[in-house]
Amino acid sequence: MQLRDAVIVVTGGAAGIGAALCRRFAAEGVRGVVVADRDEEGARRVASEIGGMAVAADVGVEDDVMRLVERATDSYGPIDLFCSNAGIATIGGVEVPDVDWRRTWDVNVMAHVFAARAVLPGMLARGRGYLLQTASAAGLLTQLGSAPYAVTKHAAVALAEWLAVTHGAAGITVSCLCPLGVDTDMLRRVEGGIGDMLRADALTPEAVAEAVVAGLAEERFLILPHPQVAEYFRHKADDYERWLRGMRRLQEKFGGEP
Ligand SMILES: NC(=O)c1ccc[n+]([C@@H]2O[C@H](COP(=O)([O-])OP(=O)(O)OC[C@H]3O[C@@H](n4cnc5c(N)ncnc54)[C@H](O)[C@@H]3O)[C@@H](O)[C@H]2O)c1
Repeated sequence: MQLRDAVIVVTGGAAGIGAALCRRFAAEGVRGVVVADRDEEGARRVASEIGGMAVAADVGVEDDVMRLVERATDSYGPIDLFCSNAGIATIGGVEVPDVDWRRTWDVNVMAHVFAARAVLPGMLARGRGYLLQTASAAGLLTQLGSAPYAVTKHAAVALAEWLAVTHGAAGITVSCLCPLGVDTDMLRRVEGGIGDMLRADALTPEAVAEAVVAGLAEERFLILPHPQVAEYFRHKADDYERWLRGMRRLQEKFGGEP
């Protein structure tokens, strides 16, 4: 897609990957960038830096997402690119309390559903529109130490695939961003060996934003800022049993249970 003159919304835009996307898009001569985040002050900071608009929104709440789309459209016109990027990580296995499973589900999966539900009717009527969903390499592989993250990111990839298949012929383009470690607050909070392993290969948020701009230009479905993820994904599909054995060995190395 052409970013010049585009109207773009980025959720989770106050920090990390989202903030880097906002800054990178602004450098492309877009019509407007809407920086949406539950951290209102952070969103304002990024928006004022790039001459965009800040909107406070909790993307796990559908009314907030609808209001965000209305405010973006009122200020700049129809949304060309909606980057559903906000996400949270929850450490633990099946013992994680339901309230935390549900919150992770709402932010990492339902937020993408709410966004698509809000913008698709207009995009379908115009015969064009772009959805970028930030999932994770965890959505293609797994996330050691975090069942809610692994499960919800798989669901996010599944939704992106489904939207791409179902609405592709009607002019809707979908990209799914699946990085490994990125040097942001989210990764800094991951403790122990797993965190250290991810940090060893971490990219800067700016490098991820660069990969996104290249992926959008090519309208590529899977955007993989870490090219090794494609190889790991192939290994998984080629020999699932072998891949599971390898992941178990890695899990053992980091201390057994989550
Ligand atoms: N950092 C990594 O290593 C990594 C790797 C793969 C995928 N990701 C994914 O990238 C995305 C961005 O992560 P990041 O590393 O920049 O994280 P981050 O924690 O640095 O920033 C996330 C931003 O999202 C906002 N946010 C969180 N929940 C929200 C909600 N309910 N409503 C609105 N805003 C909310 C936060 O306030 C914050 O500004 C997430 O979806 C994450 O799962 C991150």
